[in-house]
Amino acid sequence: MARILTGIQSSGRPHLGNILGAIQPAVALSRSEQNNAFVFIADLHSLTSMRDAGTRLESVKAVAAAWLAFGFDTQRNVFYRQSQIPEVCELAWYLSCFTPFPMLANAHSFKDKSENLAMVNAGLFTYPVLMAADILLYDAHFVPVGKDQKQHLEITKDIANAFNNHYQKPIFVVPEPKISEATPLIMGTDGRKMSKSYQNTIDIFLPKNQLKKQVMSIVTDSLPLEEPKNPDTCNVFKLFELVAEPNDTETLRQKYLAGNFGYGHAKNALLDVLVAKYEKEAEAFNHYMSDEQALEKELINGEQKAREIASKTLTRVRECLGF
Ligand code: ADP
Ligand code: TRP
Repeated sequence: MARILTGIQSSGRPHLGNILGAIQPAVALSRSEQNNAFVFIADLHSLTSMRDAGTRLESVKAVAAAWLAFGFDTQRNVFYRQSQIPEVCELAWYLSCFTPFPMLANAHSFKDKSENLAMVNAGLFTYPVLMAADILLYDAHFVPVGKDQKQHLEITKDIANAFNNHYQKPIFVVPEPKISEATPLIMGTDGRKMSKSYQNTIDIFLPKNQLKKQVMSIVTDSLPLEEPKNPDTCNVFKLFELVAEPNDTETLRQKYLAGNFGYGHAKNALLDVLVAKYEKEAEAFNHYMSDEQALEKELINGEQKAREIASKTLTRVRECLGF
């Protein structure tokens, strides 16, 4: 039995990038008989960039509701909030003492913000260590994530190996990333990586009129309606291709190439396919968002299971360290 583990930060509502890059691949893996999945909401990580408690609670709800809406089976698997398993903070401390400073200084999550060091908190700097603790605490074998998390997984593996080699014992399972090849990196409406932090997201759970606003704001070039257009450089087409059936994608491709087809038309086609494809999930998501007690019950149940495993790992680590 392989153990799958992944987390999403509670720093906003989950978007199409989170869904295609993380939620759907992880739910698919969790359904295999050979796998057992741990899915959590990385609410401690969200504190590195977001301090408002109300916004965090609302985001925790939204991330949890998105997993359930996409059919994550909480009975067979383990579903929890990172902050409810305090063992993870203790393990992060131990691991931080096995993490070379330059490895963290090289992490993109820190480097991208390091131009203005006064704005970088130590939590952001040690973010990859907490992530390693998330994974190593539960002996995960595979971690499904988007491409942007690849470096964090390499850091996790390096820390696990450093620890195991030092004590000459297989204390930690050394995990492998599982990067979904079909959906490596989804671009946002402004052409950058779609991210909760850039306000460039497509939120498929919104009512159609609000979703339309987001779709219509996707940046394109300014070729006139009559001109033939290149589908392969167009972000609207790329998003369509990811969610539509192959024959509909081919039809749209021909329309781009033929000319007399504007980006407005393409955006309407994208909007229609998004609404049709995710209708059921949007309904389920909104149902969970309005039933806080049901969400809470699912999470508390998962937290009991997670805590049992976490405390066993921690005992093993403490013994090894002489605490
Ligand atoms: P965000 O950047 O929106 O805050 P997170 O960092 O919480 O997203 O990422 C949660 C999961 O979703 C990770 O596995 C991450 O790799 C994946 N993910 C996030 N954005 C994208 C994207 N634009 N394309 C593909 N996967 C993504
Ligand atoms: N850093 C991840 C992200 O921003 C979220 C995360 C935290 C995570 N801990 C994890 C993902 C452990 C996978 C495994 O996307």
